[in-house]
Amino acid sequence: MCLLPGRNSRITKPKFYQVYLFEIFSLSEQKDETLKLFYFFHAAVPGLPLLGNLHQLKEKKPHQTFTKWAEIYGPIYTIKTGASSAVVLNSTQVAKEAMIAKFSSISTRKLSKALSILTHEKTMVATSDYGDFHKMVKRFVMTSMLGTSGQKQFRDTRNMMIDNMLGTFHTLVNDDPNAPLNFREVFKNELFRLSLIQALGEDVSSVYVEEFEKVISKEEIYHATVVDMMMCAIEVDWRDFFPYLSWIPNRSFETRLLTTEGRRTAVMRALINQQKKRIARGEARISYLDFLLEENTLTDEQLLMLVWEAVIEAADTTLVTTEWAMYEIAKHPEKQDRLYQEIQEVCGNDIVTEDHLSRLPYLNAVFHETLRRHSPVPLVPPRFVHENTNLAGYEIPAGTEMIINLYGCNMNKNDWEEPEEWKPERFLDGRFETADMYKTMAFGAGRRACAGSMQAMNISCTAIARFVQEFAWRLKEGDEDKADTIQLTTNRLYPLHVYLTPRARK
Ligand code: HEM
Repeated sequence: MCLLPGRNSRITKPKFYQVYLFEIFSLSEQKDETLKLFYFFHAAVPGLPLLGNLHQLKEKKPHQTFTKWAEIYGPIYTIKTGASSAVVLNSTQVAKEAMIAKFSSISTRKLSKALSILTHEKTMVATSDYGDFHKMVKRFVMTSMLGTSGQKQFRDTRNMMIDNMLGTFHTLVNDDPNAPLNFREVFKNELFRLSLIQALGEDVSSVYVEEFEKVISKEEIYHATVVDMMMCAIEVDWRDFFPYLSWIPNRSFETRLLTTEGRRTAVMRALINQQKKRIARGEARISYLDFLLEENTLTDEQLLMLVWEAVIEAADTTLVTTEWAMYEIAKHPEKQDRLYQEIQEVCGNDIVTEDHLSRLPYLNAVFHETLRRHSPVPLVPPRFVHENTNLAGYEIPAGTEMIINLYGCNMNKNDWEEPEEWKPERFLDGRFETADMYKTMAFGAGRRACAGSMQAMNISCTAIARFVQEFAWRLKEGDEDKADTIQLTTNRLYPLHVYLTPRARK
């Protein structure tokens, strides 16, 4: 599969068109001449017969490889992964066209075997195809948790979470002012507390899991529902690339996936049953689970998957973003000073609250620049073109898999000056609105855009501001260039370690 420039091609054309011999060879039996022609001229990344580009994607960071290829082949090109092909999009303009203008032709998801198993075949908001189920569950999650009124209900919980973090920072600094502290450990614990309260109505400290015949701790709950799932989501099954070999078992992959999935499901079932007992005692609370049970329209499996989705989505990307922001702030003292000055001018002696956020443009720029430079979700969960369409002037046939490389869009030299640099100032030159959540592509765009962007901003911005208001931040020696990532989302490979110095209160 490849791309043929149509008459109205608007984007800069790739530097050269290649004849992808293997594809043409494999099409030689095709009777359809137009299709043969379609396959003739295109921007395709050269690969090997049979494998295509698979051997070039061995490292589990395809977004970085896709971005390098975009410099050679242009913002839109095809790759071959075994027997399948995919179009990869690497510029904001083309990605927006796919996600907004051409949404009606590109609204279904194409999941890997790993994601199909972990998400129970699209039984979630983020992985379901656009349709009645998706519309219903997106409405549920927005109304009860993530929309404006949902967010109001959990504001005290967010404040408690940030107060707790600051309290822990003070304790750690008092205990040993010369020891660097592990930022992630503190933030992770409090964010997980918030995600449990929102999703289940309780900050669960342990739960009895029938299948394990024992009580498991909060740390074990976190691993079973968040960490292990994030690691497993990037597991690769070679049968994804050679569907005609699907009949051959891949036992090690299946055992790993099914065991992790089974553990997650057992833990979630136990957590939900514990809360159902609470509700049966007449102790209803404000939570996503309470709301969904009240709606009474879902099967038990759908309910479990949706509540798990709320836990994992709340517990991961906001941590990733805030940890990167604090790394950059600690690394750039002059930008930290500018942020501190802004907070002083706007808030004076008052503690920063969510009400101040719209009046703190530099803080807003810090948040969006972090999302741009360290796109927490580097690749949009893959889309599938379900009817012929035209994108950036290229005809794209139905059946094409589409990979939207948000990291590539945010690092594109044509859209961003010095994209490697972390420069919040770039958002203050008058071209961007403070309230615009889509200054970068980090939250996706269009009807499938992130449902949790408001929550992410509320937590991350308030936390960053309060952290800087309360302490001066400095990186642990030698950590300046530790910027490697791991997992499905761009978690820092090395957890952030920092020295904090309490600021004198005026
Ligand atoms: C900085 C933090 C976050 C980032 C960068 C982020 C990014 C994304 C991206 C890129 C998508 C896919 C959009 C698409 O397919 O076009 C997405 C979808 C989604 N996100 Fe987030 N997200 C963040 C935080 C959250 C939080 C905190 C929640 C919930 C607690 C959440 C819930 C969702 C849901 C439910 C969807 C699916 C929306 C749909 O398919 O209609 N996200 N997010």
